Amino acid sequence: MNTVSICFVCLGNICRSPTAEGVMRHLVNEAGLHERIHIDSAGTGDWHIGEAPDPRAQRAAGARGYDLSALRGRQIAQADFERFDLVLAMDEANVAALRSVCPPALRDKIRLLMGFASPAASLEVSDPYFGGAEGFEAVLDQCEAACAGLLAVLRKRLAA
Ligand code: 4NP
Repeated sequence: MNTVSICFVCLGNICRSPTAEGVMRHLVNEAGLHERIHIDSAGTGDWHIGEAPDPRAQRAAGARGYDLSALRGRQIAQADFERFDLVLAMDEANVAALRSVCPPALRDKIRLLMGFASPAASLEVSDPYFGGAEGFEAVLDQCEAACAGLLAVLRKRLAA
């Protein structure tokens, strides 16, 4: 049985990437594909290692049925580029930081998450950390759109 492993990445791993992880886990479980699609998240920074997602992210996600409470912050490491098939960044700054850690031969694995949204209104998921509650809703809207597109792509990859 072939499988695929994906890792969502933002700066802190407490707002955007845990939200994407929660949304994608939900979609993958609903599709009965949890044994075939492995999901994780990480931050490019080290400030929030071991922390639960931001309470605002947890609250906004919980209201839409996504439970982020078990997730804990961690920092991306070079070995992650071997373990994962796709490393999905929230913004261009994340991409630049990832490229500086990634072995050059594996750089094709780094993509912008929003590239999987159709149509992609914005190619970046904006950082909600220093803003208000509406920023967390926007992150959820974007993650829901992109993760649906991503699941469709992964289904094809698993069937190939
Ligand atoms: P995230 O948001 O990258 O979506 O997890 C942030 C979380 C923390 C910080 C910045 C962005 N920070 O500066 O601590």
